[in-house]
Amino acid sequence: MDHISFRVARGRFFGFLGPNGAGKSTTIKMLTGLLRPTEGEATIEGHPLERELLAVKRVIGVLPEELPLYERLTGEEYLHFAGRMYGLSREETRRRTDELLAFLSLEEERGKLIVDYSQGMRKKTALAAALIHSPRVLFLDEPLNGIDPISGRVVTDLLRRLAQKGVTMFFTSHVLDVAERLCDEVAIIDRGRLVAQGTLEQIRAQREVGQDATLEDVFLKLVAADVRREDLSWIG
Ligand SMILES: Nc1ncnc2c1ncn2[C@@H]1O[C@H](COP(=O)(O)OP(=O)(O)OP(=O)(O)O)[C@@H](O)[C@H]1O
Ligand SMILES: [Mg+2]
Repeated sequence: MDHISFRVARGRFFGFLGPNGAGKSTTIKMLTGLLRPTEGEATIEGHPLERELLAVKRVIGVLPEELPLYERLTGEEYLHFAGRMYGLSREETRRRTDELLAFLSLEEERGKLIVDYSQGMRKKTALAAALIHSPRVLFLDEPLNGIDPISGRVVTDLLRRLAQKGVTMFFTSHVLDVAERLCDEVAIIDRGRLVAQGTLEQIRAQREVGQDATLEDVFLKLVAADVRREDLSWIG
């Protein structure tokens, strides 16, 4: 990361966008205590990350890029584990697990081992575990990737509702029309550098792109400007 600095207001839906290898997942790992930065600092909900990591972990929910699931547990057992780990009572953990499984259409698989889950089921289970303790800030690395359109709608509606309730969303996606619909504000990074930040309208104005430019148009203009298009010699 190259001197990236940003602030996300409480309850904002913040999209952290950039091409493959830009540093999105690395930033999320640093902000959630999974990776120690060599330099720099961050404060989350008033807690300095480095000195109050445990306090930070209590108020955040994380859906990492590589899902941290225990394959030999069932989905239900995993959610029970997550709830109890965050200090919820046994009853509350059960109640929330039941509601989350029903909400995410995972009820039929609740007794199945995670090792036998499909990719989308895994994602939904990991998302449920990230939500179970009512976090104030959610870090979601590609939450919709691999999720079918029906659950996708359920999940995006839920995320929107959470943001309206004041939960701060920090999310990455390569699906820019989804990001455009969900986000109040975005940051675009490229090779570890911040290339734009603000609402879509602000970025359009700053970068002199047309008023009707989509987020994808803006992204391609800012990020792909110096990319040379190569060709495949054997395709005519
Ligand atoms: N601990 C580390 N120290 C130094 N470089 C790292 C470290 N971890 C990852 N990187 C490098 O940082 C770059 C960004 O990787 P990252 O996974 O953050 O990209 P990304 O934006 O999430 O991309 P994608 O869209 O493909 O998920 C990669 O080149 C990666 O090799
Ligand atoms: Mg990534």
